[in-house]
Amino acid sequence: MAVFMAILGLVLVLCFCSALLRWNEVRYRKKGLPPGTMGWPLFGETTEFLKQGPNFLKTQRARYGSFFKSHILGCPTIVSMDPEINRYILMNESKGLVPGYPQSMLDILGKCNIAAVHGSTHKYMRGALLSIISHTLMRDQLLPKIDEFMRAHLSNWDNQVINIQDKTKEMAFLSSLKQIAGIESSSISYSFMTEFFKLVLGTLSLPIDLPGTNYRRGVQARKNIISIMSQLLEERRASKEIYQDMLGCLMGKDESKYKLNDEEIIDLVITLMYSGYETVSTTSMMAVKYLHDHPKALEELRKEHLAIRERKGTVDPIDYNDLKSMRFTRAVIFETSRLATIVNGVLRKTTRDMELNGYLIPKGWRIYVYTREINYDPFLYPDPLTFNPWRWMDKSLESQNYFLIFGGGTRQCPGKELGIAEISTFLHYFVTRYRWEEVGGDKLMKFPRVEAPNGLHIRVSHLTN
Ligand code: HEM
Repeated sequence: MAVFMAILGLVLVLCFCSALLRWNEVRYRKKGLPPGTMGWPLFGETTEFLKQGPNFLKTQRARYGSFFKSHILGCPTIVSMDPEINRYILMNESKGLVPGYPQSMLDILGKCNIAAVHGSTHKYMRGALLSIISHTLMRDQLLPKIDEFMRAHLSNWDNQVINIQDKTKEMAFLSSLKQIAGIESSSISYSFMTEFFKLVLGTLSLPIDLPGTNYRRGVQARKNIISIMSQLLEERRASKEIYQDMLGCLMGKDESKYKLNDEEIIDLVITLMYSGYETVSTTSMMAVKYLHDHPKALEELRKEHLAIRERKGTVDPIDYNDLKSMRFTRAVIFETSRLATIVNGVLRKTTRDMELNGYLIPKGWRIYVYTREINYDPFLYPDPLTFNPWRWMDKSLESQNYFLIFGGGTRQCPGKELGIAEISTFLHYFVTRYRWEEVGGDKLMKFPRVEAPNGLHIRVSHLTN
């Protein structure tokens, strides 16, 4: 009897689940939507997406083609894995395809954040941002600061076991703080960093405003950062000194074409720090990982950097010409970004009902412009799973249409060259000063973010020729 009841219970549960799944499918069966499945009410297919990662999307593509519907991370979503359509979406923001980042990100990064603004406001904020990272400023102000920072940050690492994940995270944050506000490693920068790390975690969490949640901590961190920044702005206004840094340019309203108020300045600073943080730190960590595993590539890279050092005195900083001469380094950075896929894709949302790829997409749906698979396309990148920086020595690969590592269209990464300059300078001091081996046993996760959950530990020793 007990067995019978258990079987009956199981059958009822299965019937209920299948009815629920069916109901959810029917709910979204609007005419003209692309094929695909919507999973469970509310949760959709988020669990499968997070657990199986790229394999889930590849399985769906095998069933439904490169343009299918799903329900992930709390939203009905179209996943586009078609390179042509992806390019079209990125190029056509004005047709109602605006950034579609999660609510927690928008709340915590602020309403003037670049991902939250569209149209002419976006153009203005982007212009202001580009004006503080121009070629001239990079050459005259930013690169000298990056060099000075890296030189100090990478000192005394020999004979130590280092968690390179932590070091590259600190590096990305502290280097941008120095460029933005000239703040050196000091007690302010460390308290700022603690708040910033909480802010980052908050943007990646569900927007649940309860005590103890990462979201609540992120919102609080934003308030603390605003208060630190407001005080800094006040002090600068009171001092009348001229500051040669990004904040100095943003505050110098008289000389600048862009007149931003304090709220806009603070949100722009948060945008800058946030956008360059994980991309630069993770690419640097993964470059260290791949170079460790590929001694020939490391040898070539080191040769390039030792040749630069030989042309200069030991204390001479890296300058713009040195940077331009780092061709193999640039190739290592691209190959690292490609193979590790630091950015899986970008999010957009529809601001109106629209036709896309022959389907009707309702207003408010999210579109996941999933670019990861292009990175492993054997026609573009023969032997795609091999780390082969030499493939990038042919410059045309960088300008091919499907090169979307830095995004595309009106939102293409404005910090590309700055990010490359930071990673290149980091690699310069790292490979000319040290050799290293992995301690071993550290796990690396590739999805949804590239990270080493327990850190990536390396034993560093002095480089002797
Ligand atoms: C290796 C380093 C980097 C990678 C791989 C990268 C990648 C990207 C990608 C894929 C986008 C497009 C996002 C979208 O379309 O929604 C983007 C946008 C952006 N990136 Fe980067 N990025 C890097 C470094 C940086 C740095 C150092 C900065 C700081 C200046 C920066 C600032 C931005 C900003 C502000 C945007 C938004 C642009 C807009 O919406 O108009 N990035 N980045």
